Amino acid sequence: MSTQHNTLDCIQPPVHKKKELCDMDYSQDPPRILSNYLVHAPKPFNAEPHLPLLVNAGLITPTDVFFKRNHGPIPDIQLEDHQVYIGVQSHGQSDAGVEWKALSMNDIMTRWPKATITASLQCAGNRREGLAQLKEVKGVIWKAGTISNAVWSGPRLCDILKDIAGVPQDLHNEMIRNYHVSFEADDHVKEDACYGSSIPLRKAMDPLGDVILAYEMNGQPLTRDHGFPLRVIVPGYIGARSVKFLQKILVQPQESTSFFQRRDYKILPPWIDSSNVDTAWDTTVSLGEMNVQCVICTPMEKEVILCPKPVTVKGYAISGGGRAIYRVELSVDGGKTWEPVDKIEQTPDKISGMYWAWALWEKKVPKILTTSEIVVRAYDSSGNMQPEFPIWNYRGVMNNAWFRVNNVIQMPQPNM
Ligand code: MTE
Repeated sequence: MSTQHNTLDCIQPPVHKKKELCDMDYSQDPPRILSNYLVHAPKPFNAEPHLPLLVNAGLITPTDVFFKRNHGPIPDIQLEDHQVYIGVQSHGQSDAGVEWKALSMNDIMTRWPKATITASLQCAGNRREGLAQLKEVKGVIWKAGTISNAVWSGPRLCDILKDIAGVPQDLHNEMIRNYHVSFEADDHVKEDACYGSSIPLRKAMDPLGDVILAYEMNGQPLTRDHGFPLRVIVPGYIGARSVKFLQKILVQPQESTSFFQRRDYKILPPWIDSSNVDTAWDTTVSLGEMNVQCVICTPMEKEVILCPKPVTVKGYAISGGGRAIYRVELSVDGGKTWEPVDKIEQTPDKISGMYWAWALWEKKVPKILTTSEIVVRAYDSSGNMQPEFPIWNYRGVMNNAWFRVNNVIQMPQPNM
């Protein structure tokens, strides 16, 4: 999809044009292990792993279990042809005035040290189902599996922006405090000319922010579904900011003008619905860091368990901005009484010390009655806690209410 240029030539990046829905070609999408997933839509492919599989797969989610969130067909990009265009736009400067530099994948893979971080991605729409039950929402009706955790490797964005775009490293610099860095993908999507998003420049340049351009996932080259050949990983942020199939990086005074930054991924006020949504986008802040979240992955609603075995309740918890999960509490009586879970496993980043990866937790419960309501809630290291009840918003994002499981059935053990 890209045109080859010599490294560091002054050039113009390709311009994407919005495609009609009927021109979207999904015939080249990669194969997937469909039995691992609850598939919400085949075109574009949107699927979440089954919750017991997700938690039993361990701290690092295998790539063929990792949730998949797309807005269009998966592009078929050739490593040797792919170029990443980098530019800086100052206040008042027109698009045409931006001086672009191009990097090949070879440049990206060899010119800067390779950083490795373990980070979870969670879609802001995870658990949208809980909000859809209250009132109509717009978006894929995700359950609670739109999250996974992987090891990502590639150069740090702060090193590339310093060397290629001349962005200062001093975090007090006015540019760092006020600018944004926008990302565009080499793909076609339903909503815009291509997928795009942005993050504050201060997050990109913060050496403890750990934003990388990943070309590897779980020790292998990225798969096409997860952004081959290159994607941004913005740890601690909603998954929407980790742009796949990365083609363009622009440092600019304002947020990205992409649909996905300006008309999506925002917690609209509760009085906004489909009838008046256009009045609210510009006055509602774009989402960045994740909120505190905790989910029971097993047992599941209506699961049948043989008694009198004690039941091990298992799940995940995560918070945004690198904040640790410091307590997970479980109730088997609908939230009247609580106990801490037995074990929480979460590891900070080796270098930055930030908690980008989820925590997996478990608790042995002697007995669960069919009438028991199992409830979980987590607290992060800043004392943020989950609300008891879901807070509806039209886009159905950031639902982090206490997670409840009902109707688990304990059956007598059959005589052997
Ligand atoms: N990047 C591109 N180019 N196209 C997309 O559709 N989806 C975003 C983000 N980056 C998207 C993208 C969203 S909403 C999420 S949650 C994550 O990618 C999902 O990443 P995954 O498919 O690797 O799990």
